[in-house]
Amino acid sequence: MDKFIIEGPTPLKGTIPISGSKNAALPLMAAAILGNSPTTITNVPKLRDIYTFNNVIRVTGTHVIFNEDDGILTIDPANIAHLEAPYELVRKMRASFYMLGALLGKFGRAKVSLPGGCAWGPRPVDLHLEGLRAMGADIKLEEGYVIGNAPDIMDGGTFTLEPSSVGATINLVLAAVLRAKEFILKNAAKEPDVVLLCKRLVEMGADIEGVGTDRLTIRAVDHLDGVEIRNAADRIETGTFMIASAMHPQSEVTLTGVDTDDLGHFPDTFKRTGTEITMDADRIHIKAPSELNSTNISTDVYPGFPTDLQAQWATMMTQAPGRSKVTDTIYHDRFSYVPEVTRLGADMDVKENKDYIEGKTPLKGASVMSTDLRASVSLVLAGMVAEGETDVLRIYHLDRGYEDLEQKLTKVGAQIRRTDQKE
Ligand code: EPZ
Repeated sequence: MDKFIIEGPTPLKGTIPISGSKNAALPLMAAAILGNSPTTITNVPKLRDIYTFNNVIRVTGTHVIFNEDDGILTIDPANIAHLEAPYELVRKMRASFYMLGALLGKFGRAKVSLPGGCAWGPRPVDLHLEGLRAMGADIKLEEGYVIGNAPDIMDGGTFTLEPSSVGATINLVLAAVLRAKEFILKNAAKEPDVVLLCKRLVEMGADIEGVGTDRLTIRAVDHLDGVEIRNAADRIETGTFMIASAMHPQSEVTLTGVDTDDLGHFPDTFKRTGTEITMDADRIHIKAPSELNSTNISTDVYPGFPTDLQAQWATMMTQAPGRSKVTDTIYHDRFSYVPEVTRLGADMDVKENKDYIEGKTPLKGASVMSTDLRASVSLVLAGMVAEGETDVLRIYHLDRGYEDLEQKLTKVGAQIRRTDQKE
């Protein structure tokens, strides 16, 4: 098992290329199953979650070729014969649950494992199941599996998501495009990953109205064609590196290969910290302020502040004078990073779904433990401004969602190296 050893504090200077998005690629991969011919997805990152989903899809008999160096993934659903997603794989990555919508939508039958627990608390899938039932599917739970059956054409009807859910929107769209006479989804998620999926499905021949809005109307078509599609740039990786580039007063970084249209309100919120940013269509230049402004945030659905940047923001606020408040309205207990950043000297206090941060606190290197993807990257950000050596353990969590993290950071001056945890 690997760990990172980070020597700090170091300013970051130079250029970082942004990779393709994990959370946008996964639904596109599930959508490829719906096609009658192969689909090619470009700009796919080399991440553990992509490898896991490749294997989930292969279990069905789908032919998957991943040209990692070029980030090109080809998915050929011609020989699908096994309509199942097993627990051994689904437990490794929740988004494998998208196989339910894809297999049910294409074949009218599916056996998919329930996702199981998550590092920071309950993440139910009740809306996925209720939505499919409302659409006209027969959904049963047996021994930890969802058994789904659907007639050739389901009536569809209307279903409202409360709360809005990225995953449920994706599963319901996948199930409806080939099998729902007319399905109206209200309070649908508007995250860029969902919008991209709908746009690509329309390119495959789907009939979806209201793409980009919270009201989607989907009418079944009799087939979809495989296509060549481009995956989006990773907006959460972009936000993570913007925050990293603001935490040391001498940092100055350019991010390239960005989809700045996908960042919602984040850039405006980010500017309130006093950080200077200049943006154009595909690049962002960041110049750290001599001193950060304490800036409260409250997470929300898109285009609001993403919960996947909450831990990184709270960590940045340890370097801002004054008291900052970080509220997570999406996941009320997504604070597993707090005890770890506190080990580095941070002053954080969690009450209900709020993290109160007192700054500015000088951080000092120590050993810290990764718990989940975004919490662990906040430990890397903290380690780069902490005095001395920080060991970030169990970095397999990071490999799930950040491509070539240590190479990218080393290129802009960070002192970070991967080594075996035994060292
Ligand atoms: C997606 O998860 C992302 N995952 C998450 O990113 C992200 O944190 C989340 O959206 C919110 O933006 C992927 O894209 C693979 P939701 P998802 O369904 O789809 C509640 C990362 O770090 N809810 O939008 O699972 C739920 O509990 C990951 O890359 C129900 O109550 O999130 C939460 O409070 C972590 N019932 C809220 O909705 C349901 O059936 C939003 O969850 C479904 C969700």
